Parts: sequence; C-alpha cells; structure tokens
Amino acid sequence: MTLLNQKQKHRVSFTLNGVPVEIEVAPRTLLTDALRHGLGATGTHVGCEHGVCGACTIQINGAPARACLTLAVQVEGCVVRTVEGLAPAPDQDGQYRLSILQAAFRRHHALQCGFCTAGILMSLDAFLRETPLPSVEAITEVIGGHLCRCTGYAPIIDAAMEAAAELRGDAKHV
Ligand code: FES
Ligand code: FES
Repeated sequence: MTLLNQKQKHRVSFTLNGVPVEIEVAPRTLLTDALRHGLGATGTHVGCEHGVCGACTIQINGAPARACLTLAVQVEGCVVRTVEGLAPAPDQDGQYRLSILQAAFRRHHALQCGFCTAGILMSLDAFLRETPLPSVEAITEVIGGHLCRCTGYAPIIDAAMEAAAELRGDAKHV
C-alpha cells in the first residue's frame, strides 16, 4: 500500500465520459467533490455522503460505484462515466437526444424532483447492459440501493422494463 502525503496535491488522470481529464487533488478529496467542483460535472448529486442514498452513483470501468465512498486518487487511469455521459452524442444538427433509458424515464414520469435520478440511471444503465431480459424483481433489487422520496418507485420499474425491451429490439418508441 502506498501512503500519500495528505499535505501535498496529487495529479490524477482518468477518462471522464470519453474525454481524458487531469485534476490536482488532495489525497482525501472525494470523487464527488472532484467531479462536481473540480471538473464541473454537477449531474452527480450528493445526498448522504456515506453510501446509503445512491444519489452519487457513477460508473467506474463500467461498474456502478458510490462516488461519495471513492477517493479521487483511486480513479487514476480509470474510465469514469457520469450521467452527463449517458446521452448519445448530438446529431448532425447539434440536437441532443436522450438515451433509451432516459427517454423511458421521461415517458413514465419516473422522476419528480430528480435528485435521485442520476444515480438510479447510472445503476440501471450498467445493469441493463449485463441483463437484457430483466425481471421486475431484479430491477427492484437494483433500485433498492437508491432512495427516492418522490416517485414510489413503480414508474421507475416500468421505465426500466420498457427500456430493456427497447434495448433488446422488442419495442420501439419515438
Ligand atoms: S451521497 Fe453517496 S450514497 Fe448518498
Ligand atoms: S425523484 Fe425526487 S427523490 Fe427521486
């Protein structure tokens, strides 16, 4: 194990939503703070700051992770994805589109205040990539790691099931 000098800043390089980034941080800097305050990626929300609410969930090397439980120095060389990286690149006219999962959330009113939404999207995005034919129970298990005070969860499950069908090519929405 390497011990870092807490008084010194450390340079951390990683890929954020497909773009190489470099940031100077203290060893104790949380990834949430590095993303939000250092890199302006404020789509990642901070709720409990101790791993319970799920609001800060991002993906590190494709797997969901709590950014509030991750030190920025831990993502050296990693591929980090936040909610800002979910939507596809803008089309030829510069118009932004939502990802299939985001669009399903919109259709099903699966968010209200939206505070929990970025984290839930990042967990479900990773889950649906690995699980093309999910059960309601499995989706319930995934979102059980996230606290939402607004929706009652049912529309989130509906949106995830519909997105899974569309990702499999079994349904199409415009
Ligand atoms: S802010 Fe990270 S789990 Fe709540
Ligand atoms: S939409 Fe408000 S907390 Fe989930």
